[in-house]
Amino acid sequence: MRTPFIAANWKMHVAPDGFDASTSPYRPHPRADVVVFPTALDIAACERAEIIVGGQGARPEGHGAFTGDISMELLAARGCRYVLCGHSERRLKHGETDDDVTAQVIAALEAALHPVICVGESAADREKGKSEKVISAQLKAIISILTSSDGIIAYEPVWAISGGNKDVQPAGPEDAQKMHAFIRSLLPKERRDTVRIIYGGSAKPDNAFKLMREPDIDGLLVGGASLDPDHFKKIIEMSLDAKGLGD
Ligand code: PGA
Repeated sequence: MRTPFIAANWKMHVAPDGFDASTSPYRPHPRADVVVFPTALDIAACERAEIIVGGQGARPEGHGAFTGDISMELLAARGCRYVLCGHSERRLKHGETDDDVTAQVIAALEAALHPVICVGESAADREKGKSEKVISAQLKAIISILTSSDGIIAYEPVWAISGGNKDVQPAGPEDAQKMHAFIRSLLPKERRDTVRIIYGGSAKPDNAFKLMREPDIDGLLVGGASLDPDHFKKIIEMSLDAKGLGD
């Protein structure tokens, strides 16, 4: 069985109150991989609180004249174990292309970081029935790299990402399962049972159970709801219950 992977993506927000408390839900969990993606400024504080931490993104170059950026190498040197690659907000707001994302994944693996590779179609792609085509293109170069590494794929349909808007609806569990199964079918046979594919996009305490009950959904990448420790705790509990791993 694949270990559930539940991640908090705090985006450009300050760390929630109490994130470093001894009872904090962001700390490592015995039955799930719980990982936090804080801003670069909060990586050290998360580390001190013994939280398993990841970078929200980084350039593939090791170091150099890139004002305002950080590298995979620097994230690893500061104790990060994971890194998001190709989050849709980076693709849309920073113009990152599939080639950029592939370079990031290669650099992440070289730096011994686990890449969490984000893919997902826009609302327009979906309306045109192009979801599978878009996702295949996003993963094309990456799939072969993943054969020998421990990467994670995050299916994050762009139309379901809340961006802080509570009215945005998540993908329905059956639709999400269909896309996860499709992504799994793209993986080489020998990795098909082991690569974790997580869902992101308006995941909340009230939909976590239904999403995680689906066989090909191995975890959740939680944005907005992860900023509330009580909500995040509930999401972890619901996810474990759905996989038969609850208390
Ligand atoms: P959301 O964000 O949970 O606020 O929709 C998810 C993400 O962008 O990773």
